[in-house]
Amino acid sequence: MPTVVFHKAGHSYTDVVQDNANLVVRAGIKRFPYPHLRYECGMGKCAKCACRVLAGAEHLPPPNWKEKKQLGERLDQGYRLACQLWLTADIELAQDDGEA
Ligand code: FES
Repeated sequence: MPTVVFHKAGHSYTDVVQDNANLVVRAGIKRFPYPHLRYECGMGKCAKCACRVLAGAEHLPPPNWKEKKQLGERLDQGYRLACQLWLTADIELAQDDGEA
């Protein structure tokens, strides 16, 4: 089961999640990384869930078309849309403060 390290506003939060966990789905049912993860649509349309992947990016599938459309050149800086990721391996993510 993947271990997720989530950084936000100078704090780090760590938990183990089930295989194929989606962090936005989890936050929606008030499970880690709730209440720290910012998100809105859950459908790849708003980019509010954008996070920078600090470790474990090699285990993620390539960005889908929604991530390419929403993130553009931020993909090159390591950003992904948390709502579009189903996690199967350890990952470390950081979400910027403020609005996406
Ligand atoms: S929550 Fe809107 S793009 Fe992920």
